[in-house]
Amino acid sequence: MGRKRLDGASAFWRVLVFALLMTLLASCALRATGEELVQSECTRCHTLAPIEVASKTSNEWQDTVHRMIEHGANLSEGQVMRVVDYLAESYGPASP
Ligand code: HEC
Repeated sequence: MGRKRLDGASAFWRVLVFALLMTLLASCALRATGEELVQSECTRCHTLAPIEVASKTSNEWQDTVHRMIEHGANLSEGQVMRVVDYLAESYGPASP
């Protein structure tokens, strides 16, 4: 009797901890920054080299990123916005 209750309780905690871990992982994935996305997604087909030598405005980066999506890059619209913001800031016309 007592043992059965204990098992139920530990199963409850296991489910709770699992759920918390999943939530944590999901929110980390959702919060990938533009920089992280560039480092993971934009290096699948080529190195960072063409990005580092480029200097484009926000509009130009948007065109480029959409062309990369036509090539097969896997980014949601929300991710595109973060990537374009990061690229325009780090590799914009004002940067060396
Ligand atoms: C599915 C493969 C693929 C992925 C993923 C990819 N690229 Fe490309 N990229 C290419 C190919 C192919 C070219 C050469 C043809 C061209 O320029 O369209 C290229 C060329 C480029 C160039 C040089 C040409 C230019 O317009 O300045 C830049 C910069 C670039 N990619 C940036 C990116 C960025 C930023 C990402 C991430 C959002 C990315 N790429 C992801 C395939 C890819």
